[in-house]
Amino acid sequence: MTGRFFVTTPIYYVNDVPHIGHAYTTVTADAVARWHRLLGDDVFFLTGTDEYGLKIARSAEANGISPQEQADVTAARFRETWDLLDVVPDRFIRTTDADHAVAVQAFLQKVHDSGHIYQSAYAGWYCVACEAYYEDDDLLPNPDGGPGLDPIHERPVEWFEEENWFFRLSAFEQPLLDWYAANPDAVGPEGKRNEALGLIKGGLRDISITRSSLGWGIPVPWDDSQVFYVWYDALINYATAIGYGSDPDRFATWWPHVHHLLAKDILRFHCVYWPAMLLAAGEDPPASIDVHGYLTVGGKKMSKTSLNQIFPSDLVEEFGVDGFRYHFLRDNAFGPDGDFSHEAMIARYNADLANNYGNLLSRVATVVAKKCDGIGPAPRPDSPLAPVAASVLAEATAAWDAMQPSVALDATWRLIREANAMLEEAEPWKAEPGPETDGVLGDALEVLRLVSILSSPALTRASGEAWRRIGLSGSPSEQSLPEAAAWGGYPGGLVVEKGTPLFPRLKVQD
Ligand code: MSP
Repeated sequence: MTGRFFVTTPIYYVNDVPHIGHAYTTVTADAVARWHRLLGDDVFFLTGTDEYGLKIARSAEANGISPQEQADVTAARFRETWDLLDVVPDRFIRTTDADHAVAVQAFLQKVHDSGHIYQSAYAGWYCVACEAYYEDDDLLPNPDGGPGLDPIHERPVEWFEEENWFFRLSAFEQPLLDWYAANPDAVGPEGKRNEALGLIKGGLRDISITRSSLGWGIPVPWDDSQVFYVWYDALINYATAIGYGSDPDRFATWWPHVHHLLAKDILRFHCVYWPAMLLAAGEDPPASIDVHGYLTVGGKKMSKTSLNQIFPSDLVEEFGVDGFRYHFLRDNAFGPDGDFSHEAMIARYNADLANNYGNLLSRVATVVAKKCDGIGPAPRPDSPLAPVAASVLAEATAAWDAMQPSVALDATWRLIREANAMLEEAEPWKAEPGPETDGVLGDALEVLRLVSILSSPALTRASGEAWRRIGLSGSPSEQSLPEAAAWGGYPGGLVVEKGTPLFPRLKVQD
């Protein structure tokens, strides 16, 4: 059954250029979107940049440029990075886009008109890096004396006092608990759901959603002395992109079939504030919120201050786009933290891509050239690999569905390993040409066809190249599952091309 699948990444702050942490979420969302396209779903994949707020205003000031210039320059860097990584969103939203201001004002006006917004004074600790308030209890001790440190960036917080507009978050404690109870699978993995429930059960306080001291934001429609607090504008991007405030019919077709991907740093905003805001605006909370851990380098979350950032372009030069995407999708399970290691990246590339996938293609092409005059034979209908292919398809489908690309790719590679094992046992390179040799080679070609399709969400390039080399036309990403994965789709009689290695082996550095 096909359906609608709307997948989002967080919109990234434009104070910093994209590193592999941003790429992790974005490549995952892109791969999941590609998987759903294979299933024939109507897919909408959204990413973009978060451009308002104090953090951006201050970083622009430090760079001696206007916030708009800061946003233009950095948003372009994000776009370039996604182009480089074959990430193809249906929309790259910028919060400075004109339709976003319309959506934010319409959304928050609705919440205001429903009586969930009121005016009050705010005084409290604020972390500009997080763009978030903290209670005294949340702060880490500051070794230098001074105000406490925020738990995410470990920087001293600042004292803010303002007359602001507040959102009555406290009124949504019970509705949120009811929503979590009625939708046990909406927030995952389980540990992250429990964390969100813990925050709600710990008690929710009303939250200030506007600023009077800042010009760089979206104006509050009922009070022109204030702009919206950046998080309240940012979250609404998910609604803007599908027509909130401008195209109600379009919004109604996509909402709430939305799947938000994000890391645990912004769990509170997505799993507590956002569903509450949606309820306050009379909308359903999202279909799912999938929270992953941190990609760490040397055991620490990547950050400018830790000087441990790694940029996608550094790795693409060495591993190629496919090597980059495959590594992060396969080696960093979605959920727990994972430490980046260059050695592990080389080892995985050599094992899975060069030795398994690449080698299967090159040995099959070589033997087909020698024993079958370069014409690929058809697979055997009763091949021992047919049931393996069926179970791999079932496992991969379940894993992509559960937002577990690493499990899906592991299952897919089982098919490659089994095909290589079959070849090693049958040794068609030593055998006489004939029906038996044809059968074994036909089975291996069928596996290559299937793997091209199943790996295409990760390997945007090599999957198409393997497809072409075994003589197929069109591309693996144009196929529809599950029909295209039925055993026996390789027709035989096609010219198989020998070529240079799909994934040249990489040397392990000393
Ligand atoms: N602008 C807000 C999000 C607003 S969404 C309505 C923001 N931006 S951010 O630039 O800080 O991006 C945070 C997100 O980037 C994380 O939730 C995660 O998706 C990704 N990551 C950034 N660094 C990361 C790691 N080191 N590891 C994993 N993901 C990381 O928060």
